[in-house]
Amino acid sequence: MHLRCSDGQCSTLLDIRDRALSCPRCGDLLEVGLGPGPFDADSLKQIWLERRISSDPRDRSGIWRFREFLPDLYDPGAVVTLEEGNVPLLAAPASSRYAGLDHLWFKHLGWNPTGSFKDGGMTVAVTQARHLGATQVASASTGNTAASMAAYAARAGIAARVYLPQGAISMAKLAQSIDYGAEIVQVEGNFDSALERLLRSAGPEVYFLNSINPFRIEGQKIVVFSLMEQLDWKPPDYIVLPGGNLGNASAFGKALQELKATGLIEKVPRMVVVQAEGANPFVRMWQSGIPRLEVIREPRTAASAICIGAPRSWKKALRALQFTGGLCLDVSEEEIAEAKAVIGGEGIGCEPASATTLAGIRRLIRQKKMDPAATVVAVLTGHALKDTDYIIRAQKRPVSSIESQISGSGV
Ligand code: F0G
Repeated sequence: MHLRCSDGQCSTLLDIRDRALSCPRCGDLLEVGLGPGPFDADSLKQIWLERRISSDPRDRSGIWRFREFLPDLYDPGAVVTLEEGNVPLLAAPASSRYAGLDHLWFKHLGWNPTGSFKDGGMTVAVTQARHLGATQVASASTGNTAASMAAYAARAGIAARVYLPQGAISMAKLAQSIDYGAEIVQVEGNFDSALERLLRSAGPEVYFLNSINPFRIEGQKIVVFSLMEQLDWKPPDYIVLPGGNLGNASAFGKALQELKATGLIEKVPRMVVVQAEGANPFVRMWQSGIPRLEVIREPRTAASAICIGAPRSWKKALRALQFTGGLCLDVSEEEIAEAKAVIGGEGIGCEPASATTLAGIRRLIRQKKMDPAATVVAVLTGHALKDTDYIIRAQKRPVSSIESQISGSGV
């Protein structure tokens, strides 16, 4: 097992214990190379199923249960887990009707221990931090990474420092980081400035836990294994997810490659990444057809989790879209708010960034770019309680028009 450059043209390999964040030769991001492994798809499925009734702490985690696809560097007792990853795949009839689809499921990652998908990555990356003997971890964040890192670091007995854009994240997320005992550094500006500041100021003693950390990606990747298992290994036609810093899109792309290569799935679902109109650098690049990302200096969206103008993982995400024959699109603030109200209205709920998925699907159906008979999994990345201010503000808008759209759709 080693770290390798994620650019297939560059064959640079690094020791798995190396703390580099990018390839020393070409500067691209790194990824974990797991090696081929003696894997037989049918026996893996069986092993993973049997572990569901085991009381081994690793088997009780919906991430470590699939550990054949995670770094195998750790003693069983050294794994830092909060039993993350055991989240449902929910049928969503009202949201399906709203989008104009026959079959839509939500994979609700907001129902993780700290309320977001970040926990899947943090269980692995904080385990690696402890394995390396780190005494201090840090991340810049729009709130969820910070909260998750703070919780897992606390479990591991490691000091945590979070860099947050001042006044630009939800109070609930800030409160979580405080509650889990992290040191808070408020940075003037946006997420991109906070990340810059962290990268400039953190010394070598700090283990860095943003999603450019390849161990985060390994953990987040497992969500796709879990959702395939929930679908009895019959892949949907599409997997739709929000895009901010694009770590999650990168993780999903790696998962789909590994699942296909091992024969765990026959068909690769198309991946759809949805951004907010005011924070859409990846969509702009995609539409331009030129693989060069133009940074947006002042990104704007009330979906504060994805208010990011300089996504670091764009190259990995682009390769993921290309591998899966996927696409990306952006949606307006009104579309996000409306979709969020629909998801809430069927008793599921999510934070605003997550609702971009339903808004994006609806738009694709209306533009006839997605078949209404397609099977679709939308990934809800954060819990409704992550941003209650947004909900209260939105209540000032009339919602009756949304209700009539749902009941009048005739589906
Ligand atoms: N949804 C939620 C709820 C998020 O918190 C984030 C990112 C995303 C989607 C986008 O994921 O960055 O992997 O493309 N939140 C980060 C944070 C940036 O700091 O919590 P991505």
